[in-house]
Parts: sequence; structure tokens; C-alpha cells
Amino acid sequence: MEPDSKQVRRSSKDGWIFFLSGFIGALIVGWIVFPALLYSKKNQPLNFSHASHGPESSAGLECKECHSFHEDGSFSGVPGIAKCMECHEDPESPLGEDPEEVKLLTDYIKPGKEIPWLIYSRQPDCVYFPHIAHVTMAQTECRVCHGDFAARKTPPVYKVNRLTGYSIDIWGRNIAGYKKNTWDRMKMDDCAQCHRQKGKENNNACFVCHK
Ligand code: HEC
Ligand code: HEC
Ligand code: HEC
Ligand code: HEC
Ligand code: HEC
Repeated sequence: MEPDSKQVRRSSKDGWIFFLSGFIGALIVGWIVFPALLYSKKNQPLNFSHASHGPESSAGLECKECHSFHEDGSFSGVPGIAKCMECHEDPESPLGEDPEEVKLLTDYIKPGKEIPWLIYSRQPDCVYFPHIAHVTMAQTECRVCHGDFAARKTPPVYKVNRLTGYSIDIWGRNIAGYKKNTWDRMKMDDCAQCHRQKGKENNNACFVCHK
């Protein structure tokens, strides 16, 4: 028996609905569910506020007072508690009212324990990255690679890619690899791209960045 034309039209419309719902479902899984599962999240051991230690705060510190260069040109990275103790020296008398400061004093300063900070931009061991070439010689601002830390009241959530072990600041926030800002990613091709843009192609030989 021939199906009547009305039935044919209905079944092809159902097909579209099936196709669309499958397609949208796949998009949701691919763009929202999968990336969310891909990263495991961790919080920093302490809620350190860059804003309340910066030049305009009562602590009144410049970046270089905590992130400095050693005499040999190597970078100090994140300061140890000896730096914090220049002001937070007496475990019994906090400077302010914030419970995070009490945590700093009782969990770290009193027992003399270093704070196990998580490093967002940590590269694999085979990579050689000299801050001095970028900050002092090329005069690049910190925010170009790290985003704006100066105004932060809390550290960002630390996210690690479960498959690659890279932090999201290296691997990139966007799963398609599309970059909005330089600090969305710090993969090998991002380093090389800036070297090309600045006319420093001769830094793009393997041995320059790898040890
Ligand atoms: C009182 C000391 C202190 C001062 C001053 C300070 N920082 Fe920090 N900085 C820290 C500590 C502690 C951390 C680790 C916790 C965190 O990530 O917030 C850190 C982490 C960072 C990181 C994260 C690096 C990474 O990849 O994990 C960046 C970027 C940074 N600071 C930039 C700056 C800039 C820019 C300034 C000046 C505006 C500045 N800091 C001033 C103590 C300081
Ligand atoms: C130059 C002095 C100075 C140094 C060095 C310093 N701090 Fe502070 N810090 C302050 C002052 C002042 C406050 C109080 C701000 C307020 O409550 O008004 C503060 C507050 C805090 C607080 C409470 C929350 C907040 O941010 O207001 C934490 C946590 C803290 N500091 C952690 C640290 C750590 C960790 C270090 C070392 C990496 C450090 N501080 C180094 C002066 C300093
Ligand atoms: C050209 C890009 C670039 C610029 C500019 C830059 N950084 Fe970095 N930073 C990096 C990279 C890449 C790493 C990771 C290095 C590694 O793991 O070997 C890093 C690591 C760090 C760390 C963590 C170091 C550690 O291992 O403990 C801190 C803190 C930091 N940077 C602060 C700063 C500050 C402050 C400035 C400005 C004065 C700055 N950076 C400028 C790219 C940059
Ligand atoms: C925003 C631009 C920019 C980014 C991003 C960047 N670089 Fe560079 N880099 C430069 C410039 C400019 C120089 C040349 C500095 C000079 O010699 O004056 C340089 C120089 C270097 C040098 C040579 C230092 C020396 O002693 O001659 C190394 C190694 C290097 N970069 C590694 C890296 C790595 C690894 C990354 C990525 C994690 C990176 N760079 C990201 C701009 C950048
Ligand atoms: C401008 C700096 C730069 C240059 C030049 C460079 N690399 Fe890299 N390379 C990196 C950075 C940064 C990483 C870590 C981030 C990533 O995986 O992209 C990396 C990662 C790698 C890795 C993966 C290591 C791992 O543990 O995941 C290999 C392999 C590698 N590079 C080989 C090379 C070879 C071969 C060359 C020369 C053709 C080269 N690189 C040139 C910066 C550089």
C-alpha cells in the first residue's frame, strides 16, 4: 500500500527533530560536559589577596618586593614565609580581622611551615623560561602572560587537565584552541608566536627553550 503524503511529511519532520536533539545533545556534551569533566579543581592552601598587599594598600608593596630576581638573574618565584613574617611576625597578634590571616599565623608561621602554593603557569621540567629576558630585557608586563594579578582579592581556582597534567593556564581555556588573549594559553606555539612577532625568531630553535 502507498503511504499517504501526510504520513510521509510527518515522518521526515520527526527525523529532523531526532537529528536536532541528537546534534544539540552532542554539542552540550562536547562543549560543556566534557570540558567540565576534563579539569580537576583545587583551591590554594590560603586565600592570599594581591589587592590588599599592593602599592595602594596598607601593606604598600611593589610586585618586585615579593617576586624578585636573585643576583645571578634567576627569578625568586613566589616568596617563602620569611617574607610574610616581615609584617606578620607575631603569631599571637594579627594585623587585621580577616580569618585567613589567623590561618596564616596558626597553620604556617607558628609551626614554621612553608605554604604549598599551586603554580598556575608551571611548565614541564624540560622547558627553560628566563623571566629576566622577558621582564627586564624585553620590558614585558606581568599581565601579558599571567593576566591581571595586581587587582585580585582571591587567587584563581587552580585547574589541572586530567589527561595531560597541564594546568588550564598552559593548556588553554578554550577546548577548540581558539585564543582571545595571550594569557589564555602558554603552549610551545604561543611562545614561538610572540618571538616571531617581536622579531626574535632566532629564539625559536629547540635548544633555546629546552634543557
Ligand atoms: C606580599 C607578597 C606579594 C606581592 C607584593 C605580590 N605577590 Fe604575586 N604572589 C604572592 C603569593 C604568596 C603568590 C601565590 C598565591 C597566588 O597565586 O595568589 C603569588 C602569585 C603570583 C602569580 C601567580 C604565578 C603562577 O603562575 O602561579 C602572579 C602572576 C603574581 N603573583 C603576580 C604579581 C604581581 C603582578 C604583583 C604586583 C602587582 C605581585 N604579584 C605582588 C605574593 C606576592
Ligand atoms: C609589608 C607588610 C606585609 C607583608 C610582607 C605581608 N603582609 Fe599580609 N597583610 C599585611 C597587612 C597590613 C594586612 C592587613 C590588611 C587589613 O586587614 O587591613 C595583611 C593581611 C593579610 C591576610 C588577611 C587577608 C587579607 O588579604 O586582607 C593574609 C591571608 C595575608 N596578609 C597573607 C600574607 C602572606 C601569605 C604573605 C607572604 C607571602 C604576606 N601576607 C606578607 C601586610 C603584609
Ligand atoms: C613572557 C611571559 C611572562 C612574563 C612577561 C612574566 N611571566 Fe611569570 N611565568 C611565565 C612562565 C612561562 C612561568 C612558568 C615558568 C616555569 O615553570 O619554568 C612563570 C612563572 C611565574 C611564577 C611562578 C614561579 C615559580 O615557579 O614559583 C611567578 C610568581 C611569576 N611568574 C610572576 C611573574 C611576575 C611578577 C611577572 C612580572 C614582573 C611575570 N611573572 C612576568 C611567563 C611570564
Ligand atoms: C609576549 C611575548 C613573549 C612571549 C609570550 C614569550 N617570549 Fe620568550 N622572549 C620574548 C622576547 C622579546 C625575547 C628577547 C629578549 C631579548 O633578548 O631582549 C625572548 C627571549 C626568550 C629566550 C632567550 C633568552 C636569552 O637568554 O636570550 C627564551 C629561552 C625564551 N624567550 C623562552 C620563552 C618561552 C619558553 C616562552 C613560553 C612559555 C616564551 N619565551 C614566551 C618574548 C616573548
Ligand atoms: C619558544 C620556546 C620553545 C621552542 C623554540 C621549542 N619549544 Fe618545545 N616546548 C616549549 C614549551 C613551553 C613546552 C611545554 C608546553 C607545551 O607542551 O606546549 C614545550 C613542549 C615540548 C614537548 C613536549 C614535552 C611534554 O612533556 O609535554 C616536546 C617533545 C618539545 N617541546 C620538543 C621541541 C622541539 C623538538 C623543538 C624544536 C623543533 C622545540 N620543542 C622548540 C617551548 C619551546
